Amino acid sequence: MPRLGVNVDHVATLRQARGGKNPSPLWAAVEAQRAGCDSIVCHLREDRRHIQDQDLPLLKRRLRLPLNLEMGAHPEIVRIACRVKPDQATLVPERRQELTTEGGLDLYRGRQRVSRAIRQLTSSGIRVSLFIDPDARQVELAGKLGVPMVELHTGRYAEARTADVRRRALRDLKAAARQAKEAGLAVAAGHGLDYHNVRPVAVIPEVEELNIGFSIVARAMEAGIYQAVRGMVALVQGGPR
Ligand code: PXP
Repeated sequence: MPRLGVNVDHVATLRQARGGKNPSPLWAAVEAQRAGCDSIVCHLREDRRHIQDQDLPLLKRRLRLPLNLEMGAHPEIVRIACRVKPDQATLVPERRQELTTEGGLDLYRGRQRVSRAIRQLTSSGIRVSLFIDPDARQVELAGKLGVPMVELHTGRYAEARTADVRRRALRDLKAAARQAKEAGLAVAAGHGLDYHNVRPVAVIPEVEELNIGFSIVARAMEAGIYQAVRGMVALVQGGPR
């Protein structure tokens, strides 16, 4: 069975909406750790739309679990990662206008930049993973770049509108996972996975880690809203919290 990495970015998205301290991604990470996940994931974006620089040392110091930092191969972010030293860095493509990471790295076009980031991160003792589409050419190139791990982008599978598209996307994920494993790479997968679509990916034998964020944070909101309103009703009415 794969390990579960929990991405806490969207706890920070909510915090940034008011610019205060709550809800805290560190608190969410500690709760996720208590609930039995295997690693904590966050993405320091160039535009700092959710996770902030000061979150990183806190997450690194206060958790027992490994910290996996998603990041673009931007020199400023690479410098920060080399300073904070997360256990793992997952290199992702990053466009400023996108709502979320919309595709995998293009290792053909971005090869030089990605190679430089891999060298710097690796020499700081950080394990590097590359977030790529389940595409044979990208898997092949990842194998040549000397990283120990890839994460396969599950977006096309997760967002499929028809059973046929979903079946083909799952077939591509399985083939890419097999190819990566044969090339000696550890295989993770993630993006858009939720409580309805996760199982077929979780049972792909080569996939050893799933990284999931949005659906877990959304479920936490749904599961907690009743208690939150009950508490406020009681306070407004002057009763016990
Ligand atoms: N893995 C990577 C590399 C990502 O960029 C993301 C999105 O931040 C995820 C996993 C998690 O995706 P989601 O939030 O859709 O579960």
